[in-house]
Amino acid sequence: MTLPIIRMTDINLNQQRVVIREDFNVPLHEGVITSDARLIAALPTIRLALDQGAGVILLSHLGRPTEGDGQAALSLAPIAVRLAELLNHPVRFERDWLQGVTLKPGEIILCENVRFNVGEKTNHPDLAQKIAALGDVYVMDAFATAHRTEASTTGAIHCAKIACAGPLLMQELDALSHAMATPQKPVLAIIGGAKISTKLQLLDSISKVADLILVGGGILNTFMAAAGFAIGASLVERDLIPTALTLMQKLASRGTNLPLPTDVVVAKTFSATASATIKAVTEVAPDDLILDIGPDTAAAWAILITSAKTIIWNGPVGVFEFPPFSHGTQTLAQAIAQANAFSLAGGGDTIAAIEQCGIGANISYLSTGGGAFLEYLEGKTLPAVAALIEVSHA
Ligand code: 3PG
Repeated sequence: MTLPIIRMTDINLNQQRVVIREDFNVPLHEGVITSDARLIAALPTIRLALDQGAGVILLSHLGRPTEGDGQAALSLAPIAVRLAELLNHPVRFERDWLQGVTLKPGEIILCENVRFNVGEKTNHPDLAQKIAALGDVYVMDAFATAHRTEASTTGAIHCAKIACAGPLLMQELDALSHAMATPQKPVLAIIGGAKISTKLQLLDSISKVADLILVGGGILNTFMAAAGFAIGASLVERDLIPTALTLMQKLASRGTNLPLPTDVVVAKTFSATASATIKAVTEVAPDDLILDIGPDTAAAWAILITSAKTIIWNGPVGVFEFPPFSHGTQTLAQAIAQANAFSLAGGGDTIAAIEQCGIGANISYLSTGGGAFLEYLEGKTLPAVAALIEVSHA
């Protein structure tokens, strides 16, 4: 993609102090990192800067701490340890970095959680200035935080002597634009998740490129109710049933097909040990909870997936965390893995489902973004990308 943005690869980094904003907002359980996918995705950027003779100062947020309050549970200290292992290179952890840090070429520093500083969330200019002053070059590489207007994601870009986009950010933008702007047809999208209210804009924008949309989860229940099917006691947003109906008509007028299932998996309680029953969509009882698409539907949808040339996946189609209701998501995941298509997937639950199915290596591009991935697909301009374009013109 030819975005008018200065890239890190355009700049001579030799002997420079290079500040790189990454997204190391990884899941932690009792201080232990449970998925290091976001750390691994950032490694090529860090290695490239080091290979060019730079000293590297890494910045990231973790969680949503109260500003001015250094919560131990949201310290980046464990990330420094893991990064050093992954890079096979020492990573110095700096708790107090706001007034500046000293480092030599070839060294790596990881600064404590940027969100511990007052003014990060509100993009305060004083903080942005201090962040930019840490180094000679400011690299925005955190695609997963590019939808936030914060001091380290946009403010520092405007304050830096030289600001540019990192390789990971560019790689993400390339993959997303490949799927949304210049996709090979037919395009198939799988949109799952609990609430249709969080995916309305996504469904609308995806329908402009997709020939076929497969919906799952609570979203599907709302569409089924809109189409006149009984959905029992399933999760649904009743107030959005008319909106779902209008959306179905709009998709049809655009030539986008949104097939509904022929069978579903139901249970009487929402639990990992609930007994699962397969029912035709016309047989759902008033006390049934729809927790997955049925096997006939999964098999039919898998065939549709096999004939797609571009696949965009966001959200599981059932309660895949509970084994009795994971079959639909697993069947579609295996079909995506085998499809002869460019496949793009993003979002926390989707990545977890892909990890559970062990098909990560068979997906063409796994985005590190959650909210940023969604906002891009919704057609929104990401503020960090807008800031990079602005300074690249100055
Ligand atoms: C994410 O996990 O989506 C990003 O790290 C952004 O985090 P935030 O929603 O707390 O801004």
